[in-house]
Amino acid sequence: MKEIVVNGGKALKGQVRIHGAKNASLAIMCAALISDVPITLENIPNISDINTLMNIIGAMGGEVRWSGSDSLYIAPPDKINVEAPRDQAKKLRASNLLLGPLLTKYGYAKIALPGGCNIGVRPMDLHFKGLSKMGAKIKLEKGCIVAKADKLRGASIYLDFPSVGATENIMMAACLAEGQTFIENAAKEPEIVDLANFLNAMGAKMRGAGTDLIKVVGVNSLYRCDRYTVIPDRIEAGTYMVAAAATRGDVVVQNVIPKHLEPLIAKLKEANVDVIVGEDYVRVKAGKDLKPVDIKTMPYPGFPTDMQSQMMVLLSTIPGISTIVENIFENRFQVVDELKRLGAKIKVEGRIAIIEGVEELQGAEVRATDLRAGAALLIAGLVANGETRIGNSEYIYRGYQDVQEKFMALGADIRQI
Ligand code: EPZ
Repeated sequence: MKEIVVNGGKALKGQVRIHGAKNASLAIMCAALISDVPITLENIPNISDINTLMNIIGAMGGEVRWSGSDSLYIAPPDKINVEAPRDQAKKLRASNLLLGPLLTKYGYAKIALPGGCNIGVRPMDLHFKGLSKMGAKIKLEKGCIVAKADKLRGASIYLDFPSVGATENIMMAACLAEGQTFIENAAKEPEIVDLANFLNAMGAKMRGAGTDLIKVVGVNSLYRCDRYTVIPDRIEAGTYMVAAAATRGDVVVQNVIPKHLEPLIAKLKEANVDVIVGEDYVRVKAGKDLKPVDIKTMPYPGFPTDMQSQMMVLLSTIPGISTIVENIFENRFQVVDELKRLGAKIKVEGRIAIIEGVEELQGAEVRATDLRAGAALLIAGLVANGETRIGNSEYIYRGYQDVQEKFMALGADIRQI
């Protein structure tokens, strides 16, 4: 198991450039399979989740390779062997986003039940409800999702919860379905809008992405796009913003879309952090007397659950009582036990975490339990006095490209062993 060692207690200073959005890239790579022509995707982060999905698409007969430091060439196969390799598919949640594309293009899909971070049960009932309404026959067989559909039909689908993945799978399935599809109570994340922009560039007829009603008119094929650039990663950006505030530093986070960061910027300002918003950058300087705040994670444009663990570290350094309510996942406070080993004072009552700010954190040995918990422990190590060793740091490499190099450029004493 890889380990990251951090010697903390120093304020981060300087500039960091953000890479492409992991969660937009994963969905768009799956959507590219619907195309009849090869596509080059740009601004793709070189992280392990992307490389795992490349292995899956390659094993299914697609041709996919890096064609530049941050660009991927994807040529969907005419005939696809529709079984996603089990060992790879189990590694990440996004393998479930192959369902919609395979069903709408090839009429069949066999995917191992997806893996991903253990932050909750991660059911797929909303995916199955929507796709079944469009005529797909879906069953679970020996830990695999087996789905068949001669021709998907458009349908009106109401999502009980604005699930990102379910919205994405239904959007992709609807592209080549017969007739119109309406997705009500759809997820509105920026990654949903980026996926819709890509599908429309390929020739889909999709309106309303970013609102809670998405309308799709099915077409015969998608072939109009051979190059697409993915949006920057708002969660990577937010992670560096919170690291700057937590270490009381001064960091310019470049290559961002500020609009996507609004919920986080608002909360940081409420905590008295100095945030200067530019055209495509955000500068974060921790003010003098930071104030405790209350956070509730919500679907976009609410506060993002993927920033919850990182914020817990910042709040642990602010005198007073802060609270975090985690409304999206039922098991996303695993980082608390690890933060307590560093001296944090946090009490968890169900979905509520009560954080009492402490004077300082002391370095210790900790272990990452999921991607964002790993990122949070990295920030905690940068804040804590002394040495922090983070086990299971493979989790961090799933979602953060060049994470050591970027933090070292900001003055951090960090190395991997
Ligand atoms: C996506 O996961 C992201 N992953 C997650 O990012 C992110 O935390 C999440 O959206 C919420 O924003 C990718 O895009 C690859 P959901 P997804 O379906 O699609 C429940 C990261 O760190 N639900 O919106 O799996 C589910 O249990 C990762 O980058 C159902 O009940 O999220 C959860 O409680 C972590 N039934 C809630 O909805 C379903 O059929 C949100 O899940 C589907 C979901």
